[in-house]
Amino acid sequence: MSLPTKFPKNFQLATATAAYQIEGAKNLDGRGFSTWDSIRSENGRIHDNSDPDLSCEGRLKYKEDVALLSKIGVTSYRFSISWSRILPDGTLKTINEDGIQFYRDICLLLRDNGIEPIVTLFHFDMPLSIYDNGTSWLNKENCEHFEKFADLCFQKFGDLVKTWITFNEINMQAWSSVVKIEGELWLCPDRPEIENHEQAPYIAATNMLLTHAKIYRNYQKNYKETQNGLIGITNGGRFCLPASDSPADLDACNRALDWLFNYTIEPILTDSGDFPASMREKLPFLPKFSEEEKKLIKGSTDFLGINYYLSHIVRNLNDGEEPASQSERDAAYAFNEGKWEKICGETWVRYAPDGLFGLLKYVRDKYNNIPVFITENGCMDLVGGEGRKEEEILDDKHRIKFISGHLEAVAKALEEGCNVIGYTLWTLMDNFEWDDGFGVKFGICRVDFDSPDKTRTMKYSAKYYQTFIREFKKHHNLL
Ligand code: NOJ
Repeated sequence: MSLPTKFPKNFQLATATAAYQIEGAKNLDGRGFSTWDSIRSENGRIHDNSDPDLSCEGRLKYKEDVALLSKIGVTSYRFSISWSRILPDGTLKTINEDGIQFYRDICLLLRDNGIEPIVTLFHFDMPLSIYDNGTSWLNKENCEHFEKFADLCFQKFGDLVKTWITFNEINMQAWSSVVKIEGELWLCPDRPEIENHEQAPYIAATNMLLTHAKIYRNYQKNYKETQNGLIGITNGGRFCLPASDSPADLDACNRALDWLFNYTIEPILTDSGDFPASMREKLPFLPKFSEEEKKLIKGSTDFLGINYYLSHIVRNLNDGEEPASQSERDAAYAFNEGKWEKICGETWVRYAPDGLFGLLKYVRDKYNNIPVFITENGCMDLVGGEGRKEEEILDDKHRIKFISGHLEAVAKALEEGCNVIGYTLWTLMDNFEWDDGFGVKFGICRVDFDSPDKTRTMKYSAKYYQTFIREFKKHHNLL
């Protein structure tokens, strides 16, 4: 049995992008400025020092991009709607009809090509005025603005969109994109430090969970009957394995999983409706949910999205040891270098398909086999790619190994009864990789950023995926 034929007929094989990472056109459609426009204008913040206006021009080239998706043959395309392109200051004060039309046009084009849209409502870029109005998700008013934005999206796109994701990587977003935290990635604008800033990620997570739940309930009450879509939430997934069998390392490993993965989904997916017990034990300041709030949050998702790129080996933090980051300090754990291959060279991605298999079984057992959509998985070009000839860059054998290894892991998980409903390759094309700028390229299609046309060319991995999907479709008579 070949690998593509191991996936059931209704399995979705997708690829993804996010608005800020591909769109460019920051002044079109009356778009307002976002946090990332601000970050990119800070001197020295983006590692490759790229021009703040450089982009793939996805806003203008969407027809070509849909044609590319259709050529690859994906069943579904995950993209995000830019909050700032629809509501320039984040509130309903000004609604940009041109922005709305743009996303409708993409959805209509996808429909004409038999591709299912999967829409993320928040993928890391927040209207700047909202962020500044009391620091991001720490301000409950901002949460209300986001709930209204989500409601507007259901009104405007709900006839065409049947799969919604409220937050991309809610765990990462709460942790890194709200305030700057020593030892952590900084994915937010440089602003004066707020009081008790080490509590900020936990407060942000609390607010975002409540916001997610309110959006979910609103959809159930007002849109589900007529639009019949699904609402999910995406978490960044990293599996953790203990460094040894000692009880101290085993406990540390569980705490790491709680801090890195469970804290933003356990309240939704378990009966407790609350953060993990280990967090409650260690953090006296952790916000408390009222009984009513727990009821609101519990069960507020139709599926769990997981983005997967790496796993960790975890040990207990030794007495007197200085932790490398706040998360490690708060939860008293540390990382050991893992056993996994650095398949792209010296980067943070690891080739750990066994970790994905482990994580899927963990979710199956801990969360009552909730449907799981792998909303991202992929890797970057080999480091040092800058000096390579185009032909060498296109010949991305390491990425084909990465993708096929992870698809194998998913097939194995399906055999073990894991409820996986889709797999998404990150990403359709080379694009703006946040603080790494354009120096790190995850695309299965290359973008020539020097060409006026930002020419897209399929790498070998895109051709591999195309062949894979063709065989899958042929097997199920879907062609
Ligand atoms: C997860 C994020 O959702 C996406 O925006 C990013 O580009 C990839 N990870 C790769 O870092």
